[in-house]
Amino acid sequence: VNDCIIAPSILSADFARLGQEVDEVIAAGADWVHFDVMDNHYVPNLTIGPLVCEALRKHGVTAPIDVHLMVEPVDRLVPDFAKAGATLVSFHPEASRHVHRTVQLIKAEGCQAGLVLNPATPVEVLDYVLEELDLVLLMSVNPGFGGQAFIPSALEKLKAVRARIDACGKPIRLEIDGGVKPDNIGAIAAAGADTFVAGSAIFGQRDYADVIRRMRQAVTD
Ligand code: DX5
Ligand code: ZN
Repeated sequence: VNDCIIAPSILSADFARLGQEVDEVIAAGADWVHFDVMDNHYVPNLTIGPLVCEALRKHGVTAPIDVHLMVEPVDRLVPDFAKAGATLVSFHPEASRHVHRTVQLIKAEGCQAGLVLNPATPVEVLDYVLEELDLVLLMSVNPGFGGQAFIPSALEKLKAVRARIDACGKPIRLEIDGGVKPDNIGAIAAAGADTFVAGSAIFGQRDYADVIRRMRQAVTD
């Protein structure tokens, strides 16, 4: 897996015009929709749930929806998001009592499964479960808010996770989330990421196509 996926986080979109915002960002060249679910319990913020995911599908969104669950507990919401049209469902191991079981549940519901590592979560959390995953999501900020600065130690961690994925030999995507911008995405790609979440860097600009083009360009340079 060495292609580049750009996944704009709709956390930074205009929620009053969410359907149009998603249409515009996909038309501007984005690959996935990154959908941040926060519960005011696992993280100190409250966002959107399965109803909004379903509404985007009804609106006509056909792009993959990359659901990032920042909720505790996790399992009860998995079938709801599968029914609502989620493509991928990722969760934090700290929020699930039985990580392997939650991964199996996501796959049994017909979605792809991702595990999310917070900035201080050791990469060893991937032991014994990596080969079951479709995606590893590495946080380069603490979860809960858009617009935070990229934590530099995430680059070394990306290299460590990339080495594990390559050793495992399965086509597992390595996604980075938090503080990704055109001026740091090149270094992030060089450290091993192939899937890039960006919220404020994309939705904070007037011309979504221009910023997405600049991000892709920096990845291939
Ligand atoms: C943070 C979320 C991110 C966030 C990224 O908890 O998981 O997806 O929206 O926003 P930026 O790109 O602005 O750091
Ligand atoms: Zn996210």
